[in-house]
Amino acid sequence: MKITVVGAGAVGATCADNIARRELAEELILLDIKEGLAEGKAIDMMQTAAILGFDTKIIGVTNDYARTANSDVVVITSGLPRKPGMTREELIGTNANIVRTVTENILKHSPNTIIIVVSNPMDTMNYLTLQTSGLPKNRILGMGGALDSARFKYYLSQELACSPSDLNAVVIGGHGDTTMIPLINHATWNSIPVTQLLSKEQQDKIVSATMVGGATLTKLIGTSAWYAPGAGTCAMVESIVRDEKKLISCGVALDGEYGQKDISLVVPVILGKNGWERILNFQLSTEEQVAFNKSADAVRSMNDVLKTL
Ligand code: 2OP
Repeated sequence: MKITVVGAGAVGATCADNIARRELAEELILLDIKEGLAEGKAIDMMQTAAILGFDTKIIGVTNDYARTANSDVVVITSGLPRKPGMTREELIGTNANIVRTVTENILKHSPNTIIIVVSNPMDTMNYLTLQTSGLPKNRILGMGGALDSARFKYYLSQELACSPSDLNAVVIGGHGDTTMIPLINHATWNSIPVTQLLSKEQQDKIVSATMVGGATLTKLIGTSAWYAPGAGTCAMVESIVRDEKKLISCGVALDGEYGQKDISLVVPVILGKNGWERILNFQLSTEEQVAFNKSADAVRSMNDVLKTL
């Protein structure tokens, strides 16, 4: 198995670190445009191999796409991260050019790969990749739901004083502060609906905290978060390369599912060796469907910006 991570910034490097620790590939290429950055981080990670006991070979390269040839999965993290007070949407112009160029370069050497887009604004960057790559739609996924669902579980676990991994909870919609929809009415703690255990006030607090989860961290840290984004991306890679068929919320092309078409939005999918293999059709309430349609409208108007670039 060969995996490439494009972008050796904090998210890309953390994702690579997780992939290596879990030995998801024999070879892991870390590529960055900045001279020496990927090489340095790759060597630093390789120097943990003797301590952590993994055998994945991590190779850092500066813009050398030939070294990414025949990658089974490519993760794209390139682009500017958010600064405090900035929305993910404000990054659209700069990051669209970067993501387009990266995708073209990747496909020259791995024409049949599976691409996971992490760059923001994720829903629009994933849509752009769907439009420009020519790959079958199942081979293109946006990261956002894996992260936002993990944040949702974190906030639920804080309020319930329970283990986050005992929770089942998903976020759908967009990967934006106002477009994501934490499905609180479907969330359970070992099969018990959390709505039976939490007051309406607690539920609202959890949903709001989840929606601005990324912005909260950007404000605290001064730049975008990386541990959970890196781990969330790695979980997607793992389900694909090990053909685990895990149910993970991901950004995918909708063709009528959830009442939407010609758009990439986050919905629960099964991830296996072919990328996303099946979309799970949750029974949404009228209110949830209205929220989903609103997210679609917001994401669609961002996608329209692509036409002006
Ligand atoms: C976040 O929400 C990076 O968009 C990512 O932290």
